Amino acid sequence: MSRTNRVVVTAQAEFAQAALEELQYLDHQLQQIETLAPGILLCQGTDVATLQDKAANRRPIFVRHLAPVEAVVDVSNTERDIGAIALALAELPGFALLERGTRFAVQSRIVQTGQGKVERPYSSGKLNQALAEACAEETGAVEWIKKPQMVISILCTPSQALLGISSAEENLSSWPGGARHFAQSEEQISRAEFKLLEALEVFGVELPSSGRAVDLGAAPGGWTRLLLEAGLHVVAVDPANLDPRLAGQKPLEHYRGYAERYLAECLRRSWRFDIITNDMRMDARDAARLLGKAASCLRRDGVVMSTLKLPHASGGINPLATLREAMSILRHHYATVQARQLFHNRQEVTIVAAHPQFTKRG
Ligand SMILES: C[S@@+](CC[C@H](N)C(=O)[O-])C[C@H]1O[C@@H](n2cnc3c(N)ncnc32)[C@H](O)[C@@H]1O
Repeated sequence: MSRTNRVVVTAQAEFAQAALEELQYLDHQLQQIETLAPGILLCQGTDVATLQDKAANRRPIFVRHLAPVEAVVDVSNTERDIGAIALALAELPGFALLERGTRFAVQSRIVQTGQGKVERPYSSGKLNQALAEACAEETGAVEWIKKPQMVISILCTPSQALLGISSAEENLSSWPGGARHFAQSEEQISRAEFKLLEALEVFGVELPSSGRAVDLGAAPGGWTRLLLEAGLHVVAVDPANLDPRLAGQKPLEHYRGYAERYLAECLRRSWRFDIITNDMRMDARDAARLLGKAASCLRRDGVVMSTLKLPHASGGINPLATLREAMSILRHHYATVQARQLFHNRQEVTIVAAHPQFTKRG
């Protein structure tokens, strides 16, 4: 849509180089110009619209977010910046697509570079609000933060604001920089719950409202809580204790032992599950081997959702080689295997695997 060759690429800092390489596979000319902040790269390539289109179809693992740079405004870190950015936005080709009724969001990010913190009279929230009001008034488009069709992306460094307009789909995420935040709830047992919630959303999977789930590496029980809440019968497998709030919850069984033993029993007894989840702290390749064995415990229309823990790169250790090996093991056993590094993933990625009969319920 936009005719620009510059793009802001966001990934987790440690995997920013891997993200860049994924994009270079789609645009051989793509080069990094600058690191704007850890995990935020300004890059230049051939044509960003084509790159975004290819990335939306190929879904790279490590690229969390793409935002085109169609204009650059010098900023003075005063109130005047807001007016200058608003004027520049109105000149962008994508501004004409903000028609009456179009759902849009303004997503500003403010990054500090090198030379200490720069004081500004506006926050990203204030910038979003002021610009969204101005755009809505000018175009009749409707601000819709949660599910925008079009996104106005602004990245402010201490000296410049980088601006672009694109669809949320082209950005690979509806959230600024792909940072999907969830509200904390009182019932929440662990922060790991956010990983499962994000994975369900990103992969478009809806938990079945009945049937059987096995949760490998379940303690303290965040994922188990979500599976129970959906209506599933859950077997939580972990030698460690579950959160006391899960005690006596039905239909929950706690297998207080190792996943290897539990799965061997499942295979012996031909037990089947509608969903297998795994968040065990273990080498990605070992987890993939176990999930490979577990494939015959999955119903034909079932789904596996799992994290794969990666090592830090150091000396001879290459986390990407570990991931490639794990993915190749999984692909021997499942018809589809997709991986993404989610906002809530740290030194890991999340995968979804399924047999050919699986159809998304989302
Ligand atoms: C990151 S925590 C899981 C958090 C959980 N998903 C939640 O939402 O609360 C990892 C768990 O994996 C368990 N684990 C590691 N190796 C295991 C194995 N071989 N079998 C079963 N559980 C294992 C650990 O005991 C630990 O409780």
